Amino acid sequence: MGTISEKKLKRREFLGVAGAGLAAGAAIGFGAGRLVTQPGGQGTGELDKLALQRGLEPEEARSALRIFNPGGKYLDEFIMISSGGHSGQAIILGIPSMRILKYIAVYTPDPWQGYGYGNVESREILKKGSSDVRLLTGGDTHHPDISRTNAEWDGEWACIGDKLSARMAIISFKDFATKEIVRMPNMGSQHGGAHFTPNSEYVACGSFFPTPWEPGKGYKPGSTYIQLTEKNYADFYRGQNIYLAFDRSRGRFDLTRSFQVELPPYVQDLEAVGWGPSDGWTFMNSINTERAIGGVMEGRPALEVAASQRDFDYLHIINWKKAEQLVKDGKAKEMNGIKVVTLDTAVKEGILFFAPEPKSPHGCDISPSGRYVLVGGKLAPVVTAYDVEKIKQNIVDQRFEGTDPYGVPILRFEEVKAAQVEVGLGPLHNEFDDAGHGHVSCFIANEVVRYNLGPPDYTGSNTFTVIDRIKIQYNIGHLATTESGTASPKGKYLVALNKWSIDRFPNVGPLLPQNLQLIDISGEKMQLLYDLPIGLGEPHYAKMISIDKLKPLEVYAVGTDPATFTVSPNAIRKGQERIERHQVGGTWVSEIWGTLLRSTMAPDIIRVKQGDLVRIHWTNVETVRDATHGFGIADYNVMGKIDPGEVATYEFLADKPGVFYYYCTEFCSPLHMEMTGWLEVAPA
Ligand code: CUA
Repeated sequence: MGTISEKKLKRREFLGVAGAGLAAGAAIGFGAGRLVTQPGGQGTGELDKLALQRGLEPEEARSALRIFNPGGKYLDEFIMISSGGHSGQAIILGIPSMRILKYIAVYTPDPWQGYGYGNVESREILKKGSSDVRLLTGGDTHHPDISRTNAEWDGEWACIGDKLSARMAIISFKDFATKEIVRMPNMGSQHGGAHFTPNSEYVACGSFFPTPWEPGKGYKPGSTYIQLTEKNYADFYRGQNIYLAFDRSRGRFDLTRSFQVELPPYVQDLEAVGWGPSDGWTFMNSINTERAIGGVMEGRPALEVAASQRDFDYLHIINWKKAEQLVKDGKAKEMNGIKVVTLDTAVKEGILFFAPEPKSPHGCDISPSGRYVLVGGKLAPVVTAYDVEKIKQNIVDQRFEGTDPYGVPILRFEEVKAAQVEVGLGPLHNEFDDAGHGHVSCFIANEVVRYNLGPPDYTGSNTFTVIDRIKIQYNIGHLATTESGTASPKGKYLVALNKWSIDRFPNVGPLLPQNLQLIDISGEKMQLLYDLPIGLGEPHYAKMISIDKLKPLEVYAVGTDPATFTVSPNAIRKGQERIERHQVGGTWVSEIWGTLLRSTMAPDIIRVKQGDLVRIHWTNVETVRDATHGFGIADYNVMGKIDPGEVATYEFLADKPGVFYYYCTEFCSPLHMEMTGWLEVAPA
């Protein structure tokens, strides 16, 4: 490296200061003898030298110490569930270590997890979660949420939506696996998020693109057609907000008890479901209240231009408890398997209200007290805080400035606004800490901006005032703070979910990873701790839950069907393995009940005839944690895993004759290479 340059010498002096800080840390964690700082601040300790060698600034070295998690120690305080964006999966990370702990297959097959590669249970999930159009094997996961008890996350279930095809999935935090996907009726896409009501009675979610809507019949993908013209769009296209009834004991949605509220054809965007003073209400913002449809090749302006004309769009305010009562009173109309509170009924019965919101906004979040709704202005450089008490009072007093073209009453902006905070360019999402602060992501300014809320969230002076900002690389979308979106966020950490990552990571080709940045928000100044490239889709939004709220299983009780966590009818014990061949309808079925135990697959020879439907029920009879076995059959595209105690069924058509090798794909033991078998398919 040659001689020490002047710059490096300067840094060396600088590190002397760091040395003092590191020495203080060393006294706690490392033993003072390991780190020596000379009098006068000359950094000559072991860690100083290492930092100098690696070119680390003192703040960077400190950040490394704050998040490093040595093997064998459990230093993470939070678990983050992040969307996997267009990978269709969810990602589990430890915080603050930022270590990736798991990918959860949700909308997308995953051969390791046995999801969609011959595994019957996962195939049924994907099938049930597909539209009537075709089997869907990909998705665009955007917003996760966690089940709640009294508005607090209880750590039992998570849900995550698919923006692309308007679906919602349920993940169990017992085994961090997907249990159900539902295709939400009448909706074409969704971006409203996924929001458990305060006691997980429902998961609320709004549509994004309005759908062609036959009056009285709704929308059915693959069959409802109404030609896309500006007039038809205004008259016959509709948005929707769904309340998916959730059976928390089973972890399943129940469409028969679910309902929807029909909305005007604005592009509904993010929403939030309230608690405390906002209990019973949903707030969602919208863009394109211009009702533009695009058509750059048909002589109309691009959507991005036409949809950005008005200075105000509409914050949607839905009284969902009242809507629920209307449904119970029989005032909803059944459309495509779900009760719908029509737009006319919503207006007549006082379910739906608007408040003006600047300008093509994004992000709609509720403060911890439940008192304020914070909306990021996106094209306006402000966060608007709406006072829920004022909203409710103005609705009671019927104080409106008028109605929209569909008769929806519009509240007066000045009457329901608590404050506007000038934050900078492109404000999107607001997340909160335990000290009455909001943190807003500014997409264009590449910043996270911290501001004081108002009472009761923040009772000091300078309410709704910016107090700190930190630069982000680059183009932050969502951000997540610990347990924000509940009544008691925990502070400490913020993760910025950034869209661009140029100059942050070594070049691995034109498709760059997305970049997650961990920020310390415990002090007066926010401080960047870590950059994490995620090479799996685009993590869109994330939630961080205290690790002690989660009670995951270590192993399944032997014979468990993970779909229900009860004993599978196909569970067997060692020694009970059997092969049967029987006819179902016109098809011969070779059905096998087998066991997996280090290091034998029993049976290890399966003889079937060409044309047989082969159905193998594996029971992993292991009781030891992490004793997962895999299963893969050459040339049959069958792959998966069977966790200790799990019963999993694999099914395929033995359409090609031959002798095919199968084996345990999971390295499980010294004789893992011997954990194999033969599938013999005799020609018909
Ligand atoms: Cu079982 Cu390798």
